[in-house]
Amino acid sequence: MDDLATLTTSGTERLRDAPDLDALHEAEADLLGKKGELASLKKRLSGLDPDERRATGQALNEARTVLEEAAAERRAALESVAHQARLLAERQDLTEIVEHRRRGSLHLVTQTWDRLVDVFVGMGFEVAEGPEVETDWHNFEALNIPSAHPARGMWDTLYVDLGAPESTLLRTHTSPVQIRVMSEGEPPFYSVMPGRVFRRDTADASHMPVFHQIEGLVVDRGVSFADLAGTLEAFTTAYFGGAIHSRLRPSYFPFTEPSAEYDINCVFCEGSGCRTCAQTGWLELGGCGMVHPNVLTNVGLDPEQWSGFAFGFGLDRLALMRHGVDDIREMYTGDVRFLEQFPA
Ligand code: PHE
Repeated sequence: MDDLATLTTSGTERLRDAPDLDALHEAEADLLGKKGELASLKKRLSGLDPDERRATGQALNEARTVLEEAAAERRAALESVAHQARLLAERQDLTEIVEHRRRGSLHLVTQTWDRLVDVFVGMGFEVAEGPEVETDWHNFEALNIPSAHPARGMWDTLYVDLGAPESTLLRTHTSPVQIRVMSEGEPPFYSVMPGRVFRRDTADASHMPVFHQIEGLVVDRGVSFADLAGTLEAFTTAYFGGAIHSRLRPSYFPFTEPSAEYDINCVFCEGSGCRTCAQTGWLELGGCGMVHPNVLTNVGLDPEQWSGFAFGFGLDRLALMRHGVDDIREMYTGDVRFLEQFPA
């Protein structure tokens, strides 16, 4: 009985003082295990007479209960400490990033897109968009470019392996959105159509296989070439400021007749001649012209009643010119040193 009392006292102490769960586990095995100290005391019961054996047996059971309770209590305490430690280790200090927070900004292309749309909306245009994967009909056929037409060579086309061969493609310009606007609505139309376009081009300083255009379309009664020239001039001064003006040069597009190139005064020398404009004082921005009667007929409009003009120019090119960037690839490498120069 004395040995049992000593074991209970020292055992309880050992369990209560176990520094961690491993030590606790070890102490439990030593005290309460099959080959533990309590078990070896129990073996000595056989040497006692029946009365003593009963009393001692009972004391042994009580001692076991005391030790087991001490172990359970210590385990709960240690587990709670471990849990707290884990919570602490996994804690995310959400205030930490405040100091390092950097504000992003819209990409230069997006900024340009938004500004252009703003100017045209201010002039009374609506905004329309079309799909980037187009049918041959919308991208070419309806625009008065039949399949064998040599003008197809003007656009290096990326075809999509879908349906009949060469029936589906990545749009090579935003002009197919003209077709969609005219087929889906009723005239008059005053629409601008910004979007991403694709061409089978190798990337270099002035080309990207993916770039952006903005298309303009006006169809109404009695629209003239003077309206086209006036609209582009009004846009030019609104967008670039009063010092920059526009001019139109004769050109050819299958979907406009007559057609023209749309030039603006060089934004660097304002027309006096410099390296960027090859001393001409002019920069080429895009194409335009009066909507071809065949195009109107293709979308079910009577060219005797309706006339209109269209224009289209490169959005990335415009941004490059405006900011004096000399390589279009800068727009698409995602280099923050480039991007952070255009905060907005
Ligand atoms: N879609 C033509 C191009 O990509 C530009 C253009 C648009 C020309 C509208 C005339 C009228 O080159």
